[in-house]
Amino acid sequence: MDAVNPVKGNAQKAQDDVLVRIEKLWTVFGQGEKAFSVHQDLDLEVRRGEILTIVGGSGTGKTVLLRHILGLTRPSRGTVRIDGQEASALPTEGASARMGMLFQHGALFSAFNVLDNIAFALREQDSLPEEVVRDAALVKLQMVGLKPEHALRMPSDLSGGMIKRVALARALIMDPPLLLLDEPTAGLDPLGSDEFCALLLDVQRELGLTVIMVTHDLDTLYALSTRVAVLAEKKVIVVGTPEEVVQFKHPFIETFFLGERGRRAMQPLPQQAAQ
Ligand SMILES: Nc1ncnc2c1ncn2[C@@H]1O[C@H](COP(=O)(O)OP(=O)(O)O)[C@@H](O)[C@H]1O
Ligand SMILES: [Mg+2]
Repeated sequence: MDAVNPVKGNAQKAQDDVLVRIEKLWTVFGQGEKAFSVHQDLDLEVRRGEILTIVGGSGTGKTVLLRHILGLTRPSRGTVRIDGQEASALPTEGASARMGMLFQHGALFSAFNVLDNIAFALREQDSLPEEVVRDAALVKLQMVGLKPEHALRMPSDLSGGMIKRVALARALIMDPPLLLLDEPTAGLDPLGSDEFCALLLDVQRELGLTVIMVTHDLDTLYALSTRVAVLAEKKVIVVGTPEEVVQFKHPFIETFFLGERGRRAMQPLPQQAAQ
């Protein structure tokens, strides 16, 4: 409590609640006449402990936005800050301790078994004894719902759902506070997708993670999102709970949320209800 200046106290708290702050971001690719912009004056805040879902049409710059947060793409203008620090200025060393990433086509290292895939970032640090590395990887293996006997399997012997689980364990090996997911349920069947969402929610709660996710799957969006940010016209046009965002008048939102697929996702198990 700040008895002297409660307003300032609240402002400070609001600041601390924000883990990722993107301000007036411009992303321009290409040179001269071929230059084109993907983001223009894009603003976005991601709060600690939330699952923020980014949606937008194909090619609207969702993956590029994740790359900015990872510090892999530098803003042409504007800033991307993680905990107050400029993302692209942070050293690549130790990056996996700051944030975990599940890539859209997140292949595992095919020559490494499951445990060695999970342990990769920790082993790369070369600072811990082998038993400690193995134990840490086994803890993560179990956290994602796999069994110790899966540890020695090779990626080629895993189902799509298991590959996602291993990729998640690998992203979390350094206990990062922030997890980025690019289309985490793409390529999974509906059952596998539901299972992976349930796992993500468990892990997010257990570890108190902040999650930034890109998805075009409405079931995944409704299962996981605290808030949704809609990317259109080179910026974030609206951010809010799924219920709030659906109310926003914009052609993309109408097509995306209120089309056939959208209505289905908002009414769980309509077939069963009709029977
Ligand atoms: N490194 C790059 N150089 C040039 N253009 C790029 C680069 N990365 C992405 N783009 C372009 O930026 C746009 C947004 O890409 P992306 O973020 O991958 O879209 P999506 O929203 O489908 O994830 C696309 O037109 C893509 O071709
Ligand atoms: Mg993409």
